[in-house]
Amino acid sequence: MESIISFIRSAFYEPENFIPLHDPRFIGNEKQYLNECIDSNFVSSVGEFVGRFEKMCADYIGAKYVVATMNGTSALHIALLLAGVKPCEEVISQPLTFVATTNAISYIGASPVFTDVNKETMGLCPYKLREFLQEFGEMRLDGYCYNKQTGKRFAACVPMHTFGHPVIIDKLIEVCNEYNIPVIEDAAESLGSYYKERHTGTSGLFGILSFNGNKVITTGGGGMILTNDEELAKKAKHITTTAKIPHSWEFFHDQIGYNYRMTNIQAALGCAQIENLDYFIEEKRQLAERYKEFFKTKGIEFFTEPENCKSNYWLNVIIMNNKQQRDEFLKYTNEHGVMTRPIWTLMNALPAFSSCQCGNIDNAKYFEDRVVNIPSSVIIKDYFKN
Ligand SMILES: Cc1ncc(COP(=O)(O)O)c(C=O)c1O
Repeated sequence: MESIISFIRSAFYEPENFIPLHDPRFIGNEKQYLNECIDSNFVSSVGEFVGRFEKMCADYIGAKYVVATMNGTSALHIALLLAGVKPCEEVISQPLTFVATTNAISYIGASPVFTDVNKETMGLCPYKLREFLQEFGEMRLDGYCYNKQTGKRFAACVPMHTFGHPVIIDKLIEVCNEYNIPVIEDAAESLGSYYKERHTGTSGLFGILSFNGNKVITTGGGGMILTNDEELAKKAKHITTTAKIPHSWEFFHDQIGYNYRMTNIQAALGCAQIENLDYFIEEKRQLAERYKEFFKTKGIEFFTEPENCKSNYWLNVIIMNNKQQRDEFLKYTNEHGVMTRPIWTLMNALPAFSSCQCGNIDNAKYFEDRVVNIPSSVIIKDYFKN
């Protein structure tokens, strides 16, 4: 294990200091844009940076419409709402995800249902989903698919692109189309990742991104709704901005809205960050390549991008032989100033979701016991020399 610590330290040009899992990098116009924001007095939900950041994201991703939000969780909440998910309906998702995915389903009053992840992608598996729907799904005369066991409608499906590795989205959409279930892609971790040259988050009815401080680029806290549907995009903008009807002085809100809009300060940071996104991803992919070669010599599996995909390698992953080896590795590295983390506890094991229906989730359990995330920040050699 000592040689692993030495390798990580040398890769990050850090012989002594603590090495975090994923630090943000501010090497561009961040301070300039933030100053512009403060000088202009537009620091809140009005200001030119929000529109500018949305345009930059839409262009980068190739999404027709985007709506910036205060974080990824709120983006997911609104996407589920506008996809037509109602209280007491069910939403299929993966048990192996960050809790925000599952929380957002609960905000609607809907229940998550868990089906397994794929061994090659760590994200929702289309083949396991099909098996689950063949066993539990029932098409009714209204054209929707209902759960035979609970009688509730499967109102949406939320796959998540785990650690930036794209799910097999074309197959997932094919299965969901057969059952008339809209797909909302949780692409919180996968900005800059592509499945068959299509950016993650742009294949489903909606996609969402997160710009939390630990993501590839950050706005401090922030998120984005992606869609190719103009009407849905207009509704998303309306509902995330308190559903106010535009007027010079009147306050009229035509439905219950949310104060989920991204602020100008957040967006200013985002504009500066996205200018360096290609560089960040290039560096991250180089680091992943070095990890891959190194762990080969140690006989430890390093998780690589799935077939047909280009991954942003947001968080690098090694797969230990078993839980005991995982725990020993976590203990040793964290005690030696190198931050490592296990993957999330499965959603169905959390108190809030323990009564939710769960298909066969053997792959999720396999990853839960073995996955370790290792330091993955963008390495900027000159930055460290200063
Ligand atoms: C998979 C996933 N979904 C949703 C979120 C929620 O994003 P946010 O923290 O911006 O609310 C995150 C990250 O934080 C995430 O990793």
